[in-house]
Amino acid sequence: MKAGVVGAAGYAGGELLRLLLGHPNVDEIVAGSESLAGRPVSSAHPNLRKRTTLTFVHYEDVGRCDVLFLALPNGAHRAHEFEDRTTVLIDLSSDHRLRDPADYDRWYGSPHPRPTLLDRYTYGIPELHRDEIRGSKRITGAGCNATASILALLPLFRAGLVDRSRPIVIECKVGSSEGGREPSEDSHHPERSGVVRSFRPVGHRHTAEIEQELRLGGQNLRVDLSVTSVELVRGVLATAHVYSTTTLDEKALWKVYRDAYAAEPFVRIVKERTGIWRYPEPKLLAGTNFADVGFALDPRGERVVALCAIDNLMKGAAGNGIQAMNVACGYPEDAGLAFVGLHP
Ligand SMILES: NC(=O)c1ccc[n+]([C@@H]2O[C@H](COP(=O)([O-])OP(=O)(O)OC[C@H]3O[C@@H](n4cnc5c(N)ncnc54)[C@H](OP(=O)(O)O)[C@@H]3O)[C@@H](O)[C@H]2O)c1
Repeated sequence: MKAGVVGAAGYAGGELLRLLLGHPNVDEIVAGSESLAGRPVSSAHPNLRKRTTLTFVHYEDVGRCDVLFLALPNGAHRAHEFEDRTTVLIDLSSDHRLRDPADYDRWYGSPHPRPTLLDRYTYGIPELHRDEIRGSKRITGAGCNATASILALLPLFRAGLVDRSRPIVIECKVGSSEGGREPSEDSHHPERSGVVRSFRPVGHRHTAEIEQELRLGGQNLRVDLSVTSVELVRGVLATAHVYSTTTLDEKALWKVYRDAYAAEPFVRIVKERTGIWRYPEPKLLAGTNFADVGFALDPRGERVVALCAIDNLMKGAAGNGIQAMNVACGYPEDAGLAFVGLHP
């Protein structure tokens, strides 16, 4: 099959190309970049030297694809231009993640330009919506901080264990590649390196996705999210604090997390009694599609700390996109996603 990437010169686009080049079901790849059309793909992604001789093409020359990924900036709102060029469209931006146009207006500061499109997209985290993604033609990627937060908490919400009347607080520590390849004052090395910087203590847009997906069809849900930039290039660590509706013990929590994730190919429960890798950590996940999930129970009772680490460019963007493609196309869910990461 033929897979295309629009916005292929960006960080998420580069990861999509790396994964598609190793995918057993992909015969042809086309890489769309306006700024680098005519240049070799390796001019933007040096890790792909000698792996491919592909060159970038203008978006209009991407042609007809079986699957087309959009890795354009948030707010580009260009998906409609590509809809008739592909069977399956997977948009990694935030343009189609929220179901309710009023939520979009509230969190993105302006009305959605094509609100009727929102209903047509499936929120593309397979651990949440595998059945809907199967056979779906319009899929949206999720926010990376949202992905980590949702996967940390999903088992507790599914089991009905979260007391929604008490605060649900999530802190995400994030690496610099979340910001994409465009340099800014914030990403300038002397300003970014070594920081622990409160990036968005309140008002982060991924809050809306987390609330939408953890509501699970129930009543309104309020989640409080803070995002802090730390010394990482890749990685998110979500630390979520919730209060339980009943008295829990560790054995009960293990069952809740195992019930949710034992059969998931890309979620690993990480919780050891001893050693240095007791809880999820992003460093081990660079380049992999795994989400490592863990939990801790406050010995004073009620408070559960739920954790999830991912690589923002993988399970948080490109890797999850390929996983969703595999589900939508009926390929083995782990096709092209075998890399297990590096240690140390
Ligand atoms: N970075 C992450 O961790 C992450 C995680 C989850 C989701 N995402 C989503 O994935 C999408 C791509 O993110 P990214 O980090 O790969 O961004 P990026 O590195 O900045 O790349 C974006 C690409 O979009 C193209 N583009 C088209 N119009 C543009 C414009 N007006 N301004 C800037 N670039 C433009 C550019 O390619 P050409 O000019 O070469 O065509 C550029 O390479 C975003 O929507 C983002 O929300 C990213």
